[in-house]
Amino acid sequence: MERVLIVDDDTEAAQMLTNLSVLAPPNTPAEFQSCHDNLAQDGRFGYLVGCSEPMQRVYQQISRVAATSVTVFIGGESGTGKELVAQTVHDLSRRREQAFLAVNCGAISPQLMESEIFGHEKGSFTGADRQHQGLFERAHGGTLFLDEVTEMPMELQVKLLRVLETGSFMRVGSSVARSTDVRIIAATNRDPLAAVQAGALREDLLYRLNVFPIALPPLRARPQDIALLSAHFLSDIGEREGALRQLTPSALQRLEAYRWPGNVRELRNVLQRAYIMAEDALITEEWLPTDAPETEAGVNRKNGPGDALNFQLGSSLADVEQQLILWTLSRFDNHKERTAAALGVSLKTLYNKLKSYQKATAIPSPSPLPLHPEQSSM
Ligand SMILES: Nc1ncnc2c1ncn2[C@@H]1O[C@H](COP(=O)(O)OP(=O)(O)OP(=O)(O)O)[C@@H](O)[C@H]1O
Ligand SMILES: [Mg+2]
Repeated sequence: MERVLIVDDDTEAAQMLTNLSVLAPPNTPAEFQSCHDNLAQDGRFGYLVGCSEPMQRVYQQISRVAATSVTVFIGGESGTGKELVAQTVHDLSRRREQAFLAVNCGAISPQLMESEIFGHEKGSFTGADRQHQGLFERAHGGTLFLDEVTEMPMELQVKLLRVLETGSFMRVGSSVARSTDVRIIAATNRDPLAAVQAGALREDLLYRLNVFPIALPPLRARPQDIALLSAHFLSDIGEREGALRQLTPSALQRLEAYRWPGNVRELRNVLQRAYIMAEDALITEEWLPTDAPETEAGVNRKNGPGDALNFQLGSSLADVEQQLILWTLSRFDNHKERTAAALGVSLKTLYNKLKSYQKATAIPSPSPLPLHPEQSSM
């Protein structure tokens, strides 16, 4: 299907597309070459769309590191495309024919995580009625993506460190060391040093993971990519729904001026909603977000009056966390992506927390045209 590119020939984005050949290193293997060709043709690199300078730097890093086996540590705010970077690294590596397995350390219970990652022997705990191969075994020869690695329990971080250092691990309930050849790609949307200081991430693990860091820029730092990304998402949605719709020039300007606290994921959801609300093939500004004054206050919320929460000394951590989450949610008008971005957690983690509060707390229903949680994560 034809792609609708909302890029004029003389725009900055079009200029960037013509300058891209500088990126391709000489004598690259076929996959790299086709990746660089795609970038020059339609602003895509692997699974990633965008050809702004900050993204070109990311592509350069991906190109270099993919050919090696070193551990990659991807940082960046929620919704910036960390999982897509991980998949692109895998697809450009010599492991591309083998498995790419992903685990979200924030989304599975600490009790299950060890067996999920390392596997278990039959009878090693109540309910372990058969032997189970963990991700390290199943990803042998391929890539294991550890998303939200700062959410991994400390004792498992020790075990992960051991695998990274020795290349071997033990299933739960076994004393047999098994060797594994797995490339690790880890990601977090938290500041890793702050996570170390907060006691969520072991310092030695951070340094072991951080062999090759890739920092994904937030969308507000690369407004040049918004035209291409919007065209990409609208083309996808249009194909799915059977009718193409595109942005008017002023609608595109509005998107480029917005701060995007939920990054590319928020852009995709905004376009989905605007597509549904549009009355004809043109999407106008009407259903697009603006940075309202209260959002600006949200950015500086540490200083604003009425923007502080007080807690009694002796409050439980769980209680403080719940109050902070619910308060932030109401402060952001129930906007879950912004709430997750402000709290520095993934949308999935936020949904899990809210689900666990639902029994005790009535949570107001989300904004108009709510999207299913699955549509909001990958
Ligand atoms: N550069 C990009 N090109 C195309 N789609 C993108 C890009 N970046 C992000 N997306 C899309 O935005 C959504 C979020 O991306 P992804 O899940 O990779 O983000 P993330 O950084 O892992 O977020 P989180 O920290 O919340 O897990 C996905 O639907 C993904 O396809
Ligand atoms: Mg992710």
